[in-house]
Amino acid sequence: MAKIPVQFRLNGTDRAAFVDAPETLLNTLRRSLGDFAPKYGCGQGACGVCTVLIDGEPHLSCLTLSIACEGRQVETASGMASGPELHPLQAQFMEHFAAQCGFCTPGMLTAARSLLDKNPNPTRDEVIEAISGNICRCTGYEPIVAAILAAAGSPGLRRA
Ligand code: FES
Ligand code: FES
Repeated sequence: MAKIPVQFRLNGTDRAAFVDAPETLLNTLRRSLGDFAPKYGCGQGACGVCTVLIDGEPHLSCLTLSIACEGRQVETASGMASGPELHPLQAQFMEHFAAQCGFCTPGMLTAARSLLDKNPNPTRDEVIEAISGNICRCTGYEPIVAAILAAAGSPGLRRA
């Protein structure tokens, strides 16, 4: 099958890859572009560990075709820090010990980032709703919610 060229902006940098028509964004990110932040969990849209932002909105990269990302802005947890400076969500996840095995963390961070970019001061219920599609196998939800609430309203919130 002939490969199809696709170009999009990944964490602020123009990237290109040759993909198969049915290839998922998750596969392109991990196998072709070396971004291992989005994880492969269920591969069926049920766990949220593959969550990335496309044009600022959370999407499940295991259900997104790479060719559908042509010309769009894709952001992953890999691009949240600014050099040595952590994004407030990353800093608060560390502060609150919100990662146990860490498998869900990149998806949680991107889902939370989408929320705080739109609503810098969410309620606890809004935080829970925003991460409701993200499963933490370690069931460490309380520290995750606490970390997101602690990051809310931070002056360091910004888009990459
Ligand atoms: S790997 Fe995409 S939702 Fe589970
Ligand atoms: S910290 Fe292990 S899956 Fe969430």
